[in-house]
Amino acid sequence: MLLEVKNLNAGYGYLQILRDVSLNIDQGEYVCIVGPNGAGKSTTMKTVAGLISPMGGSIVFNGEDITGLPASQVAKKGISFVSEEMNLFVNMTVQENLYMGAYIIKDKQRKNQRLDFVFELFPRLAERKGQLAGTMSGGERKMLAIGRGMMSDPKLLLVDEPSFGLAPQLTANVFESLDVLIKNGVTILLVEQNVTKTLAVTKRGYVLENGKIGLAGESRDLADDAYVKKVFLGV
Ligand SMILES: Nc1ncnc2c1ncn2[C@@H]1O[C@H](COP(=O)(O)OP(=O)(O)OP(=O)(O)O)[C@@H](O)[C@H]1O
Ligand SMILES: [Mg+2]
Repeated sequence: MLLEVKNLNAGYGYLQILRDVSLNIDQGEYVCIVGPNGAGKSTTMKTVAGLISPMGGSIVFNGEDITGLPASQVAKKGISFVSEEMNLFVNMTVQENLYMGAYIIKDKQRKNQRLDFVFELFPRLAERKGQLAGTMSGGERKMLAIGRGMMSDPKLLLVDEPSFGLAPQLTANVFESLDVLIKNGVTILLVEQNVTKTLAVTKRGYVLENGKIGLAGESRDLADDAYVKKVFLGV
């Protein structure tokens, strides 16, 4: 197992959101978390990424207990988090933003290899490398956020709602980019509002509701599940 989350409890201050969340991800797997707004999907990712310190439970990554490690340490272990907010440096160029994503890599040559890889993945970013991030379109900013998340050569990429606010064509581009990453051996945990599409591309999924994992299984079985259909797919 690459990631083993066991009985995770987490929240904000005294407010507990996650209740005994357990999930596993194997090396190279494409896994999703689906669930309604406010279910705790982003909270789960933030906790795994070390942005929130858990109240209980454990997070083991690559055989190592990383429970409670701060985000900078978690990043060094090989987990990269592309948040909903993206947190781009709007007054910096595309290329400068990408280099920020590789801050844990000290070797200049390796940094540049990563930059080449990301530019290959997103030619649009290469074309616009000198443009200020704040002036990029919504879709381009998503690409930049994902590209920046890839700069550190992560073992696990946590992607929170990459298609949020994007037109269908750009959404398709984002999903294609994630496919390329999967083919390159990257392990991905994806959170998405577009449940139909998400269950179609991922291998396994977890359904999170009110901070608890209700259902889990192969994505194609979840897509066929009567409850999932009723609640998430509106059929
Ligand atoms: N910083 C915070 N302080 C207090 N409560 C928070 C904070 N961030 C999130 N919450 C609360 O935690 C709960 C879970 O939020 P979370 O962002 O994890 O949901 P989500 O499943 O990602 O939802 P969405 O699909 O809307 O993104 C919500 O009730 C939310 O209001
Ligand atoms: Mg969220």
